[in-house]
Amino acid sequence: MPDKNIVFVGIIASSSSLDQLVISSGYIAVQDGKITKTGSTKEFDELEKAGEFSSYKVVKLSRDQFIIPGFVDCHTHAPQFPNIGLGLDRPLLEWLAKYTFPLEKKYSDTEFAAKVYDQVVQRLLKNGTTTACYFGSLHVDGTLELVKSAIKHHQRALIGKVSMNKENDAGYYNDTKKELEEVETFIKKVLAYQNELVEPVVTPRFAVSCDKELMDGLACIANKYNCRIQSHISENLSEIEYVLETNPKCATYGDVYDKSGILNNKCIMAHAVHLTDKELSLLPKKGVSVAHCPASNTRLKSGLCPVRRIINANITVGLGTDVSGGDNASILDAIRRTMDVSMCLEMQGSPNCALNWKEAFYLATLGGAKALNLDHKIGNFEVGKDFDALLVDVYSTGGQIDKYEGALPTTTDEYAVELLQKFIFVGDDRNIAQVYVKGEKVKDIL
Ligand code: GUN
Ligand code: FE
Repeated sequence: MPDKNIVFVGIIASSSSLDQLVISSGYIAVQDGKITKTGSTKEFDELEKAGEFSSYKVVKLSRDQFIIPGFVDCHTHAPQFPNIGLGLDRPLLEWLAKYTFPLEKKYSDTEFAAKVYDQVVQRLLKNGTTTACYFGSLHVDGTLELVKSAIKHHQRALIGKVSMNKENDAGYYNDTKKELEEVETFIKKVLAYQNELVEPVVTPRFAVSCDKELMDGLACIANKYNCRIQSHISENLSEIEYVLETNPKCATYGDVYDKSGILNNKCIMAHAVHLTDKELSLLPKKGVSVAHCPASNTRLKSGLCPVRRIINANITVGLGTDVSGGDNASILDAIRRTMDVSMCLEMQGSPNCALNWKEAFYLATLGGAKALNLDHKIGNFEVGKDFDALLVDVYSTGGQIDKYEGALPTTTDEYAVELLQKFIFVGDDRNIAQVYVKGEKVKDIL
């Protein structure tokens, strides 16, 4: 049974905006999975003395530990995990045809799906991804196995059954009418679980795989059930060329989705590497957010996404691992690649393009929560939000961060910043000692 009342005391770090990261000593009190009180260490001492926490389990962090919000992965493909690290020798459209569609087709086998998805969900939780926005496969029952795994392992998850109706060599597509019926069936089955952590997402794969009739129908279904919508936009130049060729009345890729009513404030678009100025003004007008997927954009040679330009256009941005176009399931890796790609753009001559580690950390937490319309529940430690958090232990969990005794002296505050910085740049899952989702411990290696 999870502890009903628990209070954490020690270094706590979380963002309130892109340029506001607060790192301080204090406490977070959690009741029934929700944050009920926060404050300084001094306030904790006073309240503890007054008996306020007598019914609480008190977790006092060591000097080398800290608490941060759980990571949010705004875009990943659960069925593609068996291909992680494989088949990255082709650009997007060839990669999909040669490696991805043949693998995803296998998820008509629900037993296979159940096994893979159980591993995927556990892998992500181990890496501190407390919330994931998943693409499943074309199959209702196969994708319901992902729903079951998320519920079983207590991960917050937005899950879509992928929709495609355009013919391809792998024979991996659906008849339009059948597809629309199946999407509704999937949504109803997910909603029937009445699980507060898991929600269905309407998921047109992209405008290469879906025609207007299908996308019009999917937009109606999303409206009917008040669902989020997720898709891909402007990832690769050949993709854009194909989409504009097959939609001659549309001036931009964004127009194609807009004409079907796909673009709204519950819509998350992955990639957005090659957006035009018109799209950079259309997307924020519609309230669309972007999942920035730097690993995949590099691995599939799609391009260097100008993420600062997207942020400056007032588009809400979160990070995505985009496995298996991306080769790493960890959001820590997405943070680092966000810094690297944006720095490459700056070094190539685009001024003020680089994102620093604090900004990338924001995108991985509160930015992601906002992109998924979940910031009323998660993303930082405001009172009233759910406690989705990572307890990070920088030195004593057998990771690769060494402690060098006697190095330069630092104040307590500086030491806390250094700890977080080391974790962001050098840490891995071994430093993530505990993971909490809605107050329930889902990983513990302490
Ligand atoms: N565009 C359409 N489908 C996919 C996919 O599975 N991965 C990536 N990276 N881009 C896509
Ligand atoms: Fe993707």
